[in-house]
Amino acid sequence: MREPVPRKRSARLVTRHPARIRVDEEIELRTVREQDAPALFALTDQNREYLRRWLPWVDDTRSAGDTLAFIKSSQEQLRRNDGFQVSVWYRGQLAGVMGYHYWDWTNRKTEIGYWLAAPFQGKGIMTRACRTLVDYAFGKLEFNRVEIRAAAGNDRSRALPERLGFRQEGVLRGAERTASGPADQVVYGLLRSDWEALRSGGGPATRSL
Ligand SMILES: CC(C)(COP(=O)(O)OP(=O)(O)OC[C@H]1O[C@@H](n2cnc3c(N)ncnc32)[C@H](O)[C@@H]1OP(=O)(O)O)[C@@H](O)C(=O)NCCC(=O)NCCS
Repeated sequence: MREPVPRKRSARLVTRHPARIRVDEEIELRTVREQDAPALFALTDQNREYLRRWLPWVDDTRSAGDTLAFIKSSQEQLRRNDGFQVSVWYRGQLAGVMGYHYWDWTNRKTEIGYWLAAPFQGKGIMTRACRTLVDYAFGKLEFNRVEIRAAAGNDRSRALPERLGFRQEGVLRGAERTASGPADQVVYGLLRSDWEALRSGGGPATRSL
């Protein structure tokens, strides 16, 4: 006899996710694929010094094989219905990666992470892309909460949730490993009700950039 499938579980298993998400006329998000490994590794390698300051995995990424392992673990993450990772394309060029660290179906919450290659900074790419994944979390996934966490000294990263109307909720001491050692981590949260209020009030969630 087959085990009965819990209702919530079956409901979430039917969810399908697009391989490509169009953010606007300049930006597209694409689920990471195995054939992207060489290009993604090259981008990481070319930006190694700048990325390693805030992203502890960069020092462990030494070959396209390491990037391939990341892509495979992302595919496995999606199979578990636990989130997805996408490459960020700007005007047809590979610019970075972002995704959901996890999908917590019990508590209906998630956390978004991101990075851009240095030459693509300062164009609003990640703010726009992030807004799309926030919309996806509240819309398609019907979550109640989205988090973004950043090291206290990472001003560029912190500016992003602040731009999008997230609220700073707390600081976790020494919670993040950075190139210069353990750093405090700032937790930003956005609730579905905040998002709806921002949208209806024409706040940062809907303001055209
Ligand atoms: C965090 C990171 C993605 C932020 O990049 P960013 O370019 O500052 O962020 P955005 O793409 O949202 O761009 C915002 C910038 O573009 C400018 N901009 C230009 N056009 C814009 C537009 N249409 N919309 C929004 N901003 C725009 C903004 O004014 C802002 O510039 P400013 O910082 O000089 O004010 C990037 O610095 C990075 O990858 N860092 C290394 C890895 C990292 O720290 N990851 C996060 C770990 S928590």
